[in-house]
Amino acid sequence: MPHAVLARLPPGSVRLVIAFGLLLLVSLLVLRRRPAGPLARPGDGRLPVPDPAALFLSLSAGANASIAADLRALTAGPHLAGTPAAAPAAAHVLGRLRAAGLQTLTRDYAPLLSYPGRASSLALLRPDGSPLARLSLDEPADEGRRLVPPYHAYAPSGAAVAEAVFVNLGREEDYAALERLGVGVRGRVAVARRGGGYRGGVVARAAEKGAVAVLIAGRADGGVERGVVLLGGPGDPLTPGWAATDGAERLGFDDEAVKRRFPKIPSMPVSAETAVAIIRSLGGPPIPAEWQAGLGVDAGGVGPGPTLVNFTYQLNEAPQLVS
Ligand SMILES: *[C@@H]1O[C@H](CO)[C@@H](O)[C@H](O)[C@H]1NC(C)=O
Ligand SMILES: *[C@@H]1O[C@H](CO)[C@@H](O)[C@H](O)[C@H]1NC(C)=O
Repeated sequence: MPHAVLARLPPGSVRLVIAFGLLLLVSLLVLRRRPAGPLARPGDGRLPVPDPAALFLSLSAGANASIAADLRALTAGPHLAGTPAAAPAAAHVLGRLRAAGLQTLTRDYAPLLSYPGRASSLALLRPDGSPLARLSLDEPADEGRRLVPPYHAYAPSGAAVAEAVFVNLGREEDYAALERLGVGVRGRVAVARRGGGYRGGVVARAAEKGAVAVLIAGRADGGVERGVVLLGGPGDPLTPGWAATDGAERLGFDDEAVKRRFPKIPSMPVSAETAVAIIRSLGGPPIPAEWQAGLGVDAGGVGPGPTLVNFTYQLNEAPQLVS
């Protein structure tokens, strides 16, 4: 009984009810109801090529209203996988699919999930190590701290007191440009802005160059971007290729196949405001003009230092969110 399954979810247990799979079903259902018109390309004998605009942008007024209501219900609050708030979200999707007359079922999985801690901190220190300013690790738009705190899922806990270097997007070419300026990140905190590809790749590259931690800033006109930094594609790292059911065989954390999927250094997403506060305190070569876009940084250099960054990242073993 799916309802019984949902009700049995103990609060705080690391269980993932696959709402995404159900959402996919909703999409498929919607697509199935589309008239065949835009899909067919008469005459040329090849497979029909769907026109995405026709598929997604010409829904009826009734579909618009129900999509709006579902989106509102599902986005009204955080429902991070494995937290108590995930069960009502899954129940909502289940209810809607049932109402549409579909046969439904739910499955419980117990993959390795990663949750943010509240003990993380970020501060600027003077070159002599005395405190200069505390920097916010919060989402600027979330003053009431109602949302999931900004974090990079699967980042290791760790701490660093080190000079910072602004690495632009954190791509190979950015490190090459820094090298031409005589600036390296070894033993330092890399401060990047978002846009250099998969964030896990940005963190791994910084680690490869010797950085001890990475902060990735969102755009000045956007928020803080949470996300995963695991390497090697999606999926539970402990059950690669098979289902993470309760009794399933699992690889150990010391298994090479598991270890190489985890980042070696701590990282966090930060607001543009926080990144700019760090970058404005940096000396060194001036920031290349094209690196200033997006963040809205108008002063400072690429570093390193002379200020120090004191960064502590603390992850939680279990979900701490109350809904
Ligand atoms: C559905 O909503 C979209 C986005 O607001 C709008 O562009 C479109 O015209 C709406 N369609 C109908 C049929 O109301
Ligand atoms: C760095 O921050 C941590 C956590 O807030 C704190 O315990 C530590 O004393 C700080 N280190 C310095 C050198 O300020």
